[in-house]
This record gives sequence, C-alpha cells and structure tokens, in this order.
Amino acid sequence: MVALYVYERMPTDRGTDRRSYLKALAAGSVVTLAGCTNTGDGGGDGGDGGDGGDGGDGGDDSTPTDEPAPQIVAGTAPGFPPFEIKQDGELTGFDVELFEAIVEESEYEFGGWKEFEFDALIPSLRDDKIDAIAAAMTITDKRDNAIDFSDPYYSADQSVIVREGGDFSPSSLDDLSGHPIGAQKGTTGESVIQEQLIQENKLEESNYNAYDNYTLAVQDLENGNIDAIVLDQPVGATFADQRAVVVSFVYETGERYGFGVREGDSDRQQAINQGLQAVRDNGTYEELRNEWFGSN
Ligand code: ARG
Repeated sequence: MVALYVYERMPTDRGTDRRSYLKALAAGSVVTLAGCTNTGDGGGDGGDGGDGGDGGDGGDDSTPTDEPAPQIVAGTAPGFPPFEIKQDGELTGFDVELFEAIVEESEYEFGGWKEFEFDALIPSLRDDKIDAIAAAMTITDKRDNAIDFSDPYYSADQSVIVREGGDFSPSSLDDLSGHPIGAQKGTTGESVIQEQLIQENKLEESNYNAYDNYTLAVQDLENGNIDAIVLDQPVGATFADQRAVVVSFVYETGERYGFGVREGDSDRQQAINQGLQAVRDNGTYEELRNEWFGSN
C-alpha cells in the first residue's frame, strides 16, 4: 500500500506507533490528492497538489460515509529548522508533525501540505489555496487584521547569527551598523531590521539583503557576502548546530507563534485550538518538543 510504503522510507522513525500511523496517513493524503482527485485541479504537479476532491481516507475504507470529511490543506515555508524542513525530499519538522497530530484530533481530514515562500502564505490562505498556515508564524497585530490565528503554540525571541570563527561578534543591534546583513522577506526578523535599524538611520537600506528563505541567507553568511542574519532564536540555534555559524546575541521580542486560518473561519480555528489542547493533554506536544528541540 502506497501510504505505508512512503512512510517506511522516511528516515526519522523516532515516534510512537500512533504517530507512525499519522505520518503514513499524511503521506497517503498527499499521494491521493496528487494522483486521484476526481474534481478540482489535482493533476499531480507535486508541489501544488490540487484543491478539490475528497482526498481519500489514507487507505482504511471500513467506514463508508456519504459526505466526505471537511479538509484542512496546510501551507508552510520550509528551510526554517527545526520547524519546517525538507529531509531527503520529505517535508518534516516540529510544525509539520505537530499540525498533523492536531488535525488528527479533529473532525477534519488532513488534506496534505503545500509549500510557499513565507511572504506568500497569507495571500495564499486568503485566496483559498490553503486552509491553514503552519510556519512558525508570529502572531502580530498586522497579520491578525488579515487572517485569524489559533491559540499560541510556541514562544520565541529573535537572535543575530554570524560566521563561526570570524572577528565580527556584535552584542547589540547597534553593532550591526555599517555591516551588510540579511533576513527572510516578510518575517519579524526583517521588521526588526527595518524598524530598529533602517528607520532609526542606524543602517543604510543598501546594507539590508532580503532573502526568500533563511537557508539562502545562511549560505551568503558562510560565504562572506553578508556579516549577520536576524532570525528567530530557535532557528538561529539550530543553524549554529548544523552550519558554520554561531549565535552572537539574542534580541528579546517575546513572539508567540500561531497557526493561521482564514478570517472568520471559526470552525477550523476552533478545531485547531481543541486539537492543540488535546495534544498538550495527551503528551504528544511534549514528545514532539523533545524530539525536535532536544538540545536547544
Ligand atoms: N516567526 C517569524 C515570523 O513570523 C519567522 C517565521 C518564518 N517561517 C518560515 N517558515 N520560514 O515572521
């Protein structure tokens, strides 16, 4: 069976049987959407696997129903470890596993993942390309005007990372003056640079480099094209584990991440909030947290 086969090839089998099942189910949903939808545009282009159809039930057809379960198709922006990453071509990460576990607790069927650049997520949600955002997205007033958020599921500050072994080790934002620096487009890291540095005339606009994702920014930092990156602290710490970069200092912002839903979609918002509470109560949240943040 396709879904289980896909799962068995996945490299990180560290979870429980229940989560194994969830992963298989999720993989099955994606396969089904890309290959077998009978309505909508699910013609199988891989990255954008269809909007319509009932998406199948992941292989267990013991409970026939006339009405397909309502779906949640989720959008994310990988390249943000450990929240959303591509590992041997498979999408995974804390947000990915957490969100699938949350939907599994609800009456919704998980309709698979679609990937976007971070700054395209809110427009894509509003355009009905996805039903939810799971992308370490900070709840901000501005975003809250455009979409609705679940209850917060993670807290983070910003951090500034620099080259490992280099002689630039800033300890405050002001120390970034005169240096080429970077952030991901549309993120709160970018807002820190714009509001605390550029608008305060502490950094030339031309010294700010906006990247589609932080993986590209880290490459440029390692190569010496920029001197520092502003990004969420847990992600800075993860890059510091994996790449030739170090966290130079933490800039406290007290951000809280939420899952995004369309404005007014109180059904999905409520389902996600209840699912989040359920995975907190049954230990899955803590298990995933230990799995993905063990040493940070
Ligand atoms: N928390 C930050 C924000 O909301 C960064 C999120 C970036 N997420 C991602 N999947 N690339 O702006």
